[in-house]
Amino acid sequence: MALRKRSPGAEQPVLPKLSREKLREAWYIFRYIRPYRWHLLVGMVLLFASSLVFMAFPYLAGLMVDVAQGKAGRPLNLVQVGWILLAVLLLQGGISYARVMLFAQVSEKGIAAVRKALYEKLITLPLAFFGENRSGDLVSRISGDVEKLYNAFSITIAEFLRQIIILVAGIVFLAVTTPHLALIMLLTFPVVVLLAMLFGRGIRALSKKRQKVLADSNAMVSEAVQNIQTVKTYTGEWLEIRRYGKLIEEMVGVSMRYAHARALFGVFLIVLLFGALFFIIWEGAHLLQQGKITAGNLVAFVSYTAIIGGAIAGLGNFYTELLGALGATERIREILHQEPELSLSEKSGGHLTKVEGNIRFEKVHFSYPSRPDIEVLKGVDLEVKAGQKIALVGPSGAGKSTIVQLLLRFYKPDKGRILLDGQDIGECDLQAYRSHIALVPQEVLLFGGSIRENILYGKPDASEEEVIAAAEKANAWAFIQQFPEGLDTVVGERGVQLSGGQRQRIAIARAILKDPEILLLDEATSSLDAESERVVQDALDKLMEGRTSIVIAHRLATVRSADCIYVIERGRIVEQGTHEDLAALPGGIYSSLARLQFAVSENS
Ligand SMILES: Nc1ncnc2c1ncn2[C@@H]1O[C@H](COP(=O)(O)OP(=O)(O)O)[C@@H](O)[C@H]1O
Ligand SMILES: [Mg+2]
Repeated sequence: MALRKRSPGAEQPVLPKLSREKLREAWYIFRYIRPYRWHLLVGMVLLFASSLVFMAFPYLAGLMVDVAQGKAGRPLNLVQVGWILLAVLLLQGGISYARVMLFAQVSEKGIAAVRKALYEKLITLPLAFFGENRSGDLVSRISGDVEKLYNAFSITIAEFLRQIIILVAGIVFLAVTTPHLALIMLLTFPVVVLLAMLFGRGIRALSKKRQKVLADSNAMVSEAVQNIQTVKTYTGEWLEIRRYGKLIEEMVGVSMRYAHARALFGVFLIVLLFGALFFIIWEGAHLLQQGKITAGNLVAFVSYTAIIGGAIAGLGNFYTELLGALGATERIREILHQEPELSLSEKSGGHLTKVEGNIRFEKVHFSYPSRPDIEVLKGVDLEVKAGQKIALVGPSGAGKSTIVQLLLRFYKPDKGRILLDGQDIGECDLQAYRSHIALVPQEVLLFGGSIRENILYGKPDASEEEVIAAAEKANAWAFIQQFPEGLDTVVGERGVQLSGGQRQRIAIARAILKDPEILLLDEATSSLDAESERVVQDALDKLMEGRTSIVIAHRLATVRSADCIYVIERGRIVEQGTHEDLAALPGGIYSSLARLQFAVSENS
């Protein structure tokens, strides 16, 4: 399920080789462009027309010179040529406008469809996918790769075709009007232009390398600023300064090589490229002297040569960009081809309407897909009767959170079954199933938005009264009311920063609104100070009333009242029973933990 890693050496752009297979695969993306295929087609026709009209300019320029010298061989005067030129200009302008607008339809709307499809796919992928792919890579696929595709459709494909048309039309035209000169030109000019392009590619590689070092140094600055407290606490200022200085020195080194290459490139361009151009003009001047061509022919010829040179160079660049876009479609398709978790479950018909909340784990074995060699759960059996509260305790890394994740169906057990009211949860409709469960984790991250929006996430169609009632029950209403904007207070990065305990209570209000039969608390109070813990625990107690609850906690005081306590160690249940049962076990893990914790709290 993990996506292919991107090529690590960013300074050497690895371009995909063009193959029939690749092109056919890329065709897949065209399904999003299909609704705009007529725009694309008409745009192409207009592109063809405007390129040909463009090719008339050098001819008209030459014609002007010949008319001025009275050598046109045609009864024309300069005013007439001027009118023709004006008409061609207007025609060209009109066609270009229509073409750009047509291509914009395709690129804007077609690519918007790709973006939406990608996001829809991404958000419905199973959790395992996100465990195996770095979020930075995913975001860059959605932004960077789609942008490449967008550029292809808005500019590159059109320009690529335009250069081809110009190249072919130009050469044909020259071959017909001035065959001798055309031959000399074709033998010298393309070679020089191709050389220049190769040279240019080397320069681009250096520029990329410089950019990478620059990006590294920027990342270093932002990291240091984010961690400024750590830097200062550990008096790491000098270390940071030295590290930054080293990177900057490296960048200067690369930059100087880059500058050197550019300087050489300038010399090359002046001497060779213009040399070739002047050589051709020199030849043309000879022919003019011998009366084999007119001055107008020469003017037209030189203009065509310059245009053809530009087209050859442009073709190379646009070809490179197109290959880049092709690589981008490949990375986009990789995501689009992933199997979402939702459609997986739609096949099964297990509908849940009435849920009691009896949960049962039967010999559950599990390894995370990203670490298949390490078995995290080794045959877990546990049972919660409807309305009961059970607790999971044990050292960190024992597998407690994993049990909760399996119950949420973020992953599937490798062996064994998990039953809800006697039915295998893997057979239930996934969304219907999850609608009966709420989770309050240790660290609550709120969405950037108002407090109201964050609470409504539990039940989007809840009324104002319901939201307030939930907030009250969650012990959150008091602090929400203190904000001038109340429920409309914006939280998150661009809003008010809430404390851990406040965020926790908003998450609880959200869960209360959802009103699930099953409640999962994964160390919901572990990161709170004593005072917030008391308020949050009070809210949690209200939330747990009448629900099947599974509570993971470090502080045994919070699990004391559980109907059954399971002690988990290295993926196995090693002890189970009520607080009294377990505390009485001689040499038991729980009893020693209990002695330690309660002794400490009694002394303090
Ligand atoms: N997403 C994951 N991918 C791979 N391994 C994981 C993942 N989450 C947890 N683990 C591993 O599974 C084991 C149990 O983790 P966890 O259930 O979070 O323990 P607990 O909640 O009891 O502290 C640990 O060894 C942990 O490293
Ligand atoms: Mg945990």
